[in-house]
Amino acid sequence: MSTQVGGVPVLILKEGASRSRGHDAQHANIMAAQIVAEAVKSALGPKGMDKMLVDSFGDVTITSDGRTILDEMDIQHPAAKMMVEVAKTQDDEVGDGTTTSVIIAGELLSKAETLIEKKVHPTVIIDGYRKAAEKALETLEKIAIKISPTDKKMIKKAAMTSMASKLVSGSKDYLGEIATSAVLQVAVKTADGYKVDIGDIKVEKKPGESLTDTRLINGVVLDKEAVHSGMPKRVENAQIVLIDAALEIEKTEFDAKINIESPDQIDAFLKQEENMIKAMVDKLVSKDANVVLCQKGIDDLAQHFLARKNILAVRRVKKSDMEALAKATGAKVVTNLDDITKKDLGYAKLVEERKIGDDKMTFIEGCKNPLAVTILIRGGTERIVDEADRSLHDALCVVGDIVEEPKILGGGGAPEMEMAKALKEYAESLPGREQLAVMEFAEALEVIPTTLAENAGLDPIDIISELRAEHEKGKTWVGVDVETGKAGDMEKIGVFEPILVKKQIIKSCSEAATLILKIDDVIASGKTKTPPMPPGGPSGMPPGGY
Ligand SMILES: Nc1ncnc2c1ncn2[C@@H]1O[C@H](COP(=O)(O)OP(=O)(O)OP(=O)(O)O)[C@@H](O)[C@H]1O
Ligand SMILES: [Mg+2]
Repeated sequence: MSTQVGGVPVLILKEGASRSRGHDAQHANIMAAQIVAEAVKSALGPKGMDKMLVDSFGDVTITSDGRTILDEMDIQHPAAKMMVEVAKTQDDEVGDGTTTSVIIAGELLSKAETLIEKKVHPTVIIDGYRKAAEKALETLEKIAIKISPTDKKMIKKAAMTSMASKLVSGSKDYLGEIATSAVLQVAVKTADGYKVDIGDIKVEKKPGESLTDTRLINGVVLDKEAVHSGMPKRVENAQIVLIDAALEIEKTEFDAKINIESPDQIDAFLKQEENMIKAMVDKLVSKDANVVLCQKGIDDLAQHFLARKNILAVRRVKKSDMEALAKATGAKVVTNLDDITKKDLGYAKLVEERKIGDDKMTFIEGCKNPLAVTILIRGGTERIVDEADRSLHDALCVVGDIVEEPKILGGGGAPEMEMAKALKEYAESLPGREQLAVMEFAEALEVIPTTLAENAGLDPIDIISELRAEHEKGKTWVGVDVETGKAGDMEKIGVFEPILVKKQIIKSCSEAATLILKIDDVIASGKTKTPPMPPGGPSGMPPGGY
């Protein structure tokens, strides 16, 4: 970037920096965002396609989850990255609707581009879009149906809708039941409704058998086996110790030499070590522990003594699992065995090692805290299990959303059509060019039923006109029924979505679109050059090596 003063160029930016301004910058940003939206379009809805993504290590992911697709695409362009942020926010806030929000954001930008070409100033468009988003949110509140936060039948239908668009849709009934039961079990009643922390639901996956062998377990499941074959495989009325220290003799940090002069001394030395380990195990026995779950290692000798005392021990338990176990069993994680008291022990009705597929896992069931649940996902291959995990995450979030704000809407683009109708009416009450922006916002929302129809191989023009006519008649819940290929009442066919998801879609996509529209200057600094290597390379090695 330079300018001329008296024939002398004044340089402001570093060499290699680039700058684009005005309409060029806007156009480039809009185009980048649109490309991102276009990339996920074919994945929307129950008839959407999946994507196969291969990362730089050659690992393959097969998914139709908007956020995962964009994450794996490793996008570089700054405006396109903002679209990835939209998907991220959507996922973090409500867990579903990531593809929808990115598609609408792309459409809002492409409509804005046509307005800019008609000489409507971006700030006018931004104001119009903001007003439209507010009106759209109001409309959603109006058409939503209130349900009971514990109405399992209705909530399960929403869970099934979120899974209808995934690879695992064949088992959506079965998995929907599991997701609903799991969330209702961890929901906590508060003064103003229910609160759900999805993190309370532990998810373990193990390839093998089929999706319908997925189980909801009342307790915690560890992907670990007992450390010693001589240990009991089943302990009832388990008194559980959680240890965050190694059950072994601590190694000194410095080297020491011991001079041993006779075999007796070797014997004594080893005996001493043995006694120390035995004392550790005795300490646990004296507190009546019969299950030991250790975050660190367990020495061979310690394993042997524990087995002799009929204690089931598991080593190298993950930190996150230790936290879950502490919450579930009421145990306190001890770091020093000398400090252990009976009060630190936790309780579970049953601790059992079971064979799952080719591996052994440890089940801690009937915990002191009934809120502890684990979903153990099974499925034909690793990729199915991974996608089932992502889909279950969406379903769990959807159920959580409804339990926290028990209002539902129809799927199949019905709420988008109703918002579009309300916005078109609202636009007429607005003066000047803002009206145009609100109209375009309305049109942009129709991209959802259009895409659902396109992905199902239907003629979008026919469907959209049919939907418009139905909504004019006041049928607020009519959307694209992808099974029959016609307009259908979503309430009748039971395609429900949480209001929280739809509200977040409107918020995230309108914010992203306005953010991108507000940019009229892109200044990119040149790539920093890597400093020259010292002679002899980074480690001082001579060029030819030693
Ligand atoms: N049986 C159905 N009939 C019609 N539309 C459906 C049906 N089931 C789901 N849908 C619609 O599919 C859309 C959701 O598709 P999808 O799950 O692929 O995208 P998303 O939820 O926006 O993003 P993601 O799930 O990737 O986070 C919603 O509009 C939903 O109403
Ligand atoms: Mg979804």
